[in-house]
Amino acid sequence: MKKYRDYYFNKAKKENYPARSVYKLKEINNRFKLFKKGQRVLDLGASPGSWTKYVKEQIGNQGIVVSVDLKVLDIPMQRGIIFFQGDILKRDEKLEKILDNYSPFDIVLSDMAPKTTGVKITDQSRSLELAEMALDVANEFLKTRGIFVVKIFNGPDVPRFQTQLRKYFKTVKTFKPKSSRAESKETFFIGLGKLE
Ligand SMILES: C[S@@+](CC[C@H](N)C(=O)[O-])C[C@H]1O[C@@H](n2cnc3c(N)ncnc32)[C@H](O)[C@@H]1O
Repeated sequence: MKKYRDYYFNKAKKENYPARSVYKLKEINNRFKLFKKGQRVLDLGASPGSWTKYVKEQIGNQGIVVSVDLKVLDIPMQRGIIFFQGDILKRDEKLEKILDNYSPFDIVLSDMAPKTTGVKITDQSRSLELAEMALDVANEFLKTRGIFVVKIFNGPDVPRFQTQLRKYFKTVKTFKPKSSRAESKETFFIGLGKLE
């Protein structure tokens, strides 16, 4: 992750979050009122951990956040944060056990992003693959009426992904946070009310 020293970078540093991306989730939460005390939340693509830290603050002592990433978290671990280091695309046995154990989740989040190559079409299709896997996981482990938040790089297949989402959620909203970098080509989809 590149570290531009912009407004949100400095704000994150001052407020003790390891990444500026926390402000995107804050904006999403302000708009859609996602979090409540005691919830169980799955955070896919969680490193360095700013979403995990913010989610835990929102869901309180009784809440549980399960965080998954290829890379380790850079936040202090505490009770109620369960971290699995690994590849979500592989869905290995140990991860499935953790998901079985802590599900059903009230909310599934995915801020996953591929390592970008600079080749637009490759980056877009890798982002789509991650978003589709996040949707598969949400279908399996999210509660009925639960909420799904997923980031995707804009590309030609995004409308098809949105259509797919509409099959599984009562309402699907798109959101572009102000705190996304100006040059960013990412969109968040919010699936509200998972259908039975
Ligand atoms: C934008 S960062 C997430 C930032 C995080 N939400 C935060 O606020 O600290 C995207 C993350 O997706 C992770 N990622 C990419 N592909 C993945 C995969 N196949 N399995 C798990 N994590 C993956 C990357 O390792 C990276 O840490």
